[in-house]
Amino acid sequence: MRNLRLDNITETAVASFAGVPEARQRELVQALVAQLHQYAKDVKLTHAEWRAALGFLHRVGDISSGTRSEFSLLSDVTGLSSLVDMLASDPDDSTVTPGSNLGPFHAAGSPWKPNPASLIDANPGRRVLLRGRVCSSSGQPLPEATLDFWQNAADGLYWQQDPKQPTDNLRCQLRMDAAGGFQIATIRPVPYRIPVDGPVWHELVQPAGLSGWRPAHYHLIVSAPGHRTLVTELFDAEDPYLDSDAVLGVRETLVGRYQDVVDAAACALLGVPGPSCLAMTVNLRLGLLGG
Ligand code: BEZ
Ligand code: FE
Repeated sequence: MRNLRLDNITETAVASFAGVPEARQRELVQALVAQLHQYAKDVKLTHAEWRAALGFLHRVGDISSGTRSEFSLLSDVTGLSSLVDMLASDPDDSTVTPGSNLGPFHAAGSPWKPNPASLIDANPGRRVLLRGRVCSSSGQPLPEATLDFWQNAADGLYWQQDPKQPTDNLRCQLRMDAAGGFQIATIRPVPYRIPVDGPVWHELVQPAGLSGWRPAHYHLIVSAPGHRTLVTELFDAEDPYLDSDAVLGVRETLVGRYQDVVDAAACALLGVPGPSCLAMTVNLRLGLLGG
């Protein structure tokens, strides 16, 4: 390997990983090496730029921990996370609900609640009812489906970011009712900024003149036997940041509108005086496993 030149270094580097034993792993590594080389050639990467990029990645690693992944944030703000979501479920397939960002604030083991559930507890904020149905792509209700749900509080923060919130605040798991339906009495989530204390914000997002805001949303993971698990978000049609989401997570079919509904049972669940209350109604459609 003494005859390396600009015109053969890439193929040599790619070939050097031919011994990665697992085929898919090999494909991923070799394609990445090839693309990195192509990138450096395209932009004629200089030593100073290459060192600056490595320094940035070091800083992304330095601030990361078991509870904080700056690398996830980097993937989110560059649209890579959303691209992977789109590759996992065809966003143009109107028979299934599109996926959207998991984000860094999902915690396993949220408390199981009865359905209908109330997450209001001591939370300030506008009381709302989120209700809906989980169906197959053909519209068949899926009563065996389960839902893992989380959102931010009225101060814009998730419980992990705010020591004043109980650890189980505004999150739960639910089983669907016999008709595949669910109801969650909660508070209207609010827009919030991605974390602004790390290199992704200081060195990438802010210098680009981006606001770093995410539109208000609910997070959901919907699972049902025989169906692809759906990781998605539901947005608020009245949110000012729908067209500038810092992590490119919004899809038209994930935007819902709160309606004033006359519904005594809903008002009772929310603990608000009737006769009407705010409710968002959604249909979640899961694709078949292997489909
Ligand atoms: C979130 O939706 O919770 C989130 C996503 C990406 C970055 C920060 C927060
Ligand atoms: Fe979020």
